[in-house]
Amino acid sequence: MKVDVLLGLQWGDEGKGKVVDVLTPDYNVITRFQGGANAGHSLEFNGKKHILHLIPSGIFHEDTINIIGNGVVLDPAIFKEEIYELVSKFNVDPIKCLKIAKKANLIIPTHKVLDGALEKAKGNSKIGSTLKGIGPAYTDKISRSALRVGDILEDNFKEKYEALKKQHLQIIEMHNYDYDITETEKQFFEGIELLKKFDLIPAEHLINNYIKSDNKKILAEGAQGSLLDIDYGSYPFVTSSNTICAGACTGMGIAPANIGEVKGIFKAYCTRVGAGPFPTELFDEDGKQLQNQGNEFGSTTGRPRRCGWLDLVALRYSTMINGVTQLIMTKADVLDEFDTIKVAVGYKINGEETRDFPYSLEGKIEPIYKEFKGWKCKISDMKNESELPKELMEYIAFIEKETGVPVKVVSVGPDRSATIIRD
Ligand code: GDP
Ligand code: IMO
Ligand code: MG
Repeated sequence: MKVDVLLGLQWGDEGKGKVVDVLTPDYNVITRFQGGANAGHSLEFNGKKHILHLIPSGIFHEDTINIIGNGVVLDPAIFKEEIYELVSKFNVDPIKCLKIAKKANLIIPTHKVLDGALEKAKGNSKIGSTLKGIGPAYTDKISRSALRVGDILEDNFKEKYEALKKQHLQIIEMHNYDYDITETEKQFFEGIELLKKFDLIPAEHLINNYIKSDNKKILAEGAQGSLLDIDYGSYPFVTSSNTICAGACTGMGIAPANIGEVKGIFKAYCTRVGAGPFPTELFDEDGKQLQNQGNEFGSTTGRPRRCGWLDLVALRYSTMINGVTQLIMTKADVLDEFDTIKVAVGYKINGEETRDFPYSLEGKIEPIYKEFKGWKCKISDMKNESELPKELMEYIAFIEKETGVPVKVVSVGPDRSATIIRD
């Protein structure tokens, strides 16, 4: 059976964690395929909220197999924290339901120090990284000096670790950057010992067997969003992995022909955390209202998220590069109190109008807006499509027309139950 992919179409935080959790009962296997603990995926059910960073969002469903795939960069220290929290607060048995690809790369403590040193060196043009060591870890992967999960089972792991750390320290010293890794190194090695208790697997074999013989249904869970993709996002203000659908193939070791539905998730407006251009960003009361109503603070760093209107230029682009077959719209309820809702249908750049996503988003881009009448009612308790206000249905129909893709799910609140599946 083909693998479905759920991925973010904006700058991350579209609600991937919530929706993967809702969809998990339809699948046997949930896999992460890229990114690392820069991700913060929130889930809410039974009055409890939980944020996952590395562990796939299917973990709260018994009998679901969760896989941290080859394309992920795994920080053993954060992994340990997450596992302990899951066991102590939620009674989950992670050893039973979580498998880890041996080919996933490791984040070591000096990757995080390097992240800080390199960001500091960038001065005003810093990316606004989550400082989880993501950029330096993928740099080592591409430059062929990284450590992989499978290496922890080898006798010479400590030697390899020390050699990589030494390389990092040379760069850190060149930057004259203060650091103290005594505690993080302790946590790292405790995390390594914990990792050894898990099923460390050749994930590409297992996943392909699931596809071919076992008939298991697999959902690949993206992290970050398409506009943060290393190749197609708002470069250089991006993350260091391929967040788009193609990343699911390289990150899991599966053929493009084995991709089934591509479920693209987007907020009914737009947010961005960290630096970089954001054409529809609002600096007025509407922006503040989106931030307050949407509780727009980063799940990983707690930083306030910048807010703005929905950008259809960007959404059409993300839909195209991912081959999205179904759309999922979240946080429509955040717009409940607005009299008027705007969406950007084009950009004006140097006086010229375009509907296409440009080479660069930097410089002066004036969004061309279309206005919609707000619905002015509370939608978070609604359970069926037939209850949704007509103004919201018009908003959805316009997005479907512009993107050419049907909106199959409308999320109206953070809780698992606040989800409307359309036929
Ligand atoms: P992710 O990184 O894509 O998983 O998204 P985050 O969890 O970082 O951010 C999404 C935030 O919006 C979280 O706080 C969710 O609990 C919340 N959320 C998700 N869907 C909805 C929704 O439909 N309405 C509201 N009000 N909040 C939502
Ligand atoms: P989820 O999976 C939102 C942003 C950072 C920064 C840039 C690079 O929760 O949607 P990095 O740490 O990767 O070097 O940061 O990318 N960023 C995210 N923004 N959601 C995320 O993940 C993000 N992961 C990274 O804020 O601007
Ligand atoms: Mg997030």
